[in-house]
Amino acid sequence: MLIVDDLHAGYGASEVLVGTSLAVKQGAVVALIGANGAGKTTTMRAISGVLRPSHGRVLLDGKEVQGLDASRIARLGLAHSPEGRKVFGPLSVEDNLLLGAYGRLPKFLGFKAGAQADLDRVYELFPRLKDRARQASGTLSGGEQQMLAIGRALMARPKVMLLDEPSMGLAPVIVQEVFRTIRRLKEEGITLLLVEQFAKSALEVADHAYVMERGRIAVEGTPDELRRNERVLAAYLG
Ligand SMILES: Nc1ncnc2c1ncn2[C@@H]1O[C@H](COP(=O)(O)OP(=O)(O)OP(=O)(O)O)[C@@H](O)[C@H]1O
Ligand SMILES: [Mg+2]
Repeated sequence: MLIVDDLHAGYGASEVLVGTSLAVKQGAVVALIGANGAGKTTTMRAISGVLRPSHGRVLLDGKEVQGLDASRIARLGLAHSPEGRKVFGPLSVEDNLLLGAYGRLPKFLGFKAGAQADLDRVYELFPRLKDRARQASGTLSGGEQQMLAIGRALMARPKVMLLDEPSMGLAPVIVQEVFRTIRRLKEEGITLLLVEQFAKSALEVADHAYVMERGRIAVEGTPDELRRNERVLAAYLG
C-alpha cells in the first residue's frame, strides 16, 4: 500500500535522509524505530509531502506521489498525525475532527451529514472526545489531544496512516491506552506506519519493523527477528 524507495530529503543544505526504503502492506502495522535525530520524523514528512524529497519515490496504493503537495497526497489517502500532535487549539474538538474529513467531502451542502458516520466512529473509539466535543482543543489534556490527533486522521478514511510518536509526553497509563487504541485500529484493518520511542511496545503491535540509523534503514525484520538481533536488543530494547 505504501512503498518508499531510496528517499533523500533534508533541510536546506543538510541532507537527513540518505536513501531510505521501506514498505507497508495493506492492513499491516509497521514500526519505525531509531535514536533521536535518526530521521524518523523527516521520513514521515517526506512521505506526506510536508517536506519535498530531493530524490527517490513514494508509491501510495501504486501511484507515485513524491513531489505532490501535502494536501493532494492527503486526498489520495494518506493521513499524517505529526509529532507533537498539532491540534488547532482555538477550534472545538468536533471542528478539529471535521477538518480531518475536509479534503474528502463536498464543502458546503452535505458536509456534516457526510462526516457523521465517521464522527460517530471516532466518538465510539474515544468516548472522552464526545464528552468534550464543544471544548476548545487547546484546553484538552495531552492524552486527549493525542486521541484527537488520531481521531482527526481517521476522519479522512485514509488508506495509510502515519503516526509520529503518539505516546510522547504522556503518563504511563495513557500510553497504554494509546497502544490499546492502536491494537484496536489494527483489528479493524488499518494500514499504519508507527514511529515510537517505546520500541518494545511498538514491536508488540507491529507486523514488521525497521530500525533507522543516520538517515537510512539499518535493520529490518519481523518483531521476533529484531528481538533476536543482539545489536538491536542492546541499542533499542534494553
Ligand atoms: N526543520 C529542520 N531544520 C533543520 N534541521 C532539521 C529540521 N528538522 C529536523 N532536523 C534535523 O534532521 C535530523 C533528523 O531529525 P528528525 O526529526 O527526523 O529525527 P527523529 O528520528 O524524528 O528524532 P526524534 O526521535 O528525536 O523525534 C536531526 O539532525 C535534526 O536536527
Ligand atoms: Mg521525531
